[in-house]
Amino acid sequence: MKAEILRLLKESNNYISGQQLCDDFHVSRTAVWKVMEQLKKEGYQIEAVRNKGYRLIDSPDVMSQAEIDSLMKTEWAGRHTVYYDETDSTNNRAKDAGEKGAEHGTLFVADRQIAGKGRRGRAWESPAGSSIYMTILLYPRLSPMKAPQLTLLMAIAVAEGIRQVTGLDTGIKWPNDIVRNGKKICGILTEMSTEIDYINHVVIGVGINVNQETFPQDIQNTATSLKLEMGQNVKRSELIAAIMEQFEKCYETFLQTEDLSGVKEQYNSLLVNKDQDVKVLEPGNEYEAHALGINETGELLVRLPDGQEKVIYAGEVSVRGVYGYV
Ligand code: BTN
Repeated sequence: MKAEILRLLKESNNYISGQQLCDDFHVSRTAVWKVMEQLKKEGYQIEAVRNKGYRLIDSPDVMSQAEIDSLMKTEWAGRHTVYYDETDSTNNRAKDAGEKGAEHGTLFVADRQIAGKGRRGRAWESPAGSSIYMTILLYPRLSPMKAPQLTLLMAIAVAEGIRQVTGLDTGIKWPNDIVRNGKKICGILTEMSTEIDYINHVVIGVGINVNQETFPQDIQNTATSLKLEMGQNVKRSELIAAIMEQFEKCYETFLQTEDLSGVKEQYNSLLVNKDQDVKVLEPGNEYEAHALGINETGELLVRLPDGQEKVIYAGEVSVRGVYGYV
């Protein structure tokens, strides 16, 4: 009921009468009043005027189940959410739920992670109050070989979601970091449970630096946040809902062909490496090349100095700018 009341308050520019809420939800005036008091405690500014009702004046950067649910406009992606003030890792929560057959598209969100995971076994610093840590659970009927492409869909969704909510242009560093001014804003970690030719479930975890103002020393020069880039706070729940909307769209396009042909152009238009000289770092082998963009299956096409074209597969390979991280 709380999420529904919040949604009504947000969607209405006018007062909503207490009696109307009682009728809609079949509850007493006291129950409605209690919900309003809870919302105020969480930081919502709600005006209550006798004979008129309730009106939402402002909502802060609140992360809660009710706030996220009240903003979600999707059919299935993030339509069902599970929110934690604190958990080990939202990827772990999603994987456990995947084992138990939770609904396709369930989104796990935390305000803080105590064992946040990055790619290649690294840790992902996950303090409270300023970032997005979320993981979507999917059961795609695809060959496991195709699953890495889903990560690229999420990269598009994050960049487009950021643009939709903040107006800020960010780019993708192949395959799936979101960057701005040469620094990383978001990382994506996809994990899956598979049989030889069958995916049991895939989880796509997204960590976004939203309102942080400082970073640990080791990533100070390569990390940034939306707040640092824009000079103002961003409401995390709004961004989560926008990213889910974008992801749902990209995923449905993907399913039509089971490859990235329907989103390749969009991805390449966001790709910061495109038409740039890059350093390709393979285990035990490092060389320079010119990046041309991704193909239909998400590999990076590069031109070598001798004019030959080569396809770079993600995984153990990383691609950097010739002079730095991007
Ligand atoms: C990277 O190394 O770039 C990927 C970072 C992914 C971090 C996110 S935060 C939400 C989800 N839960 C985790 O433990 N990791 C991912």
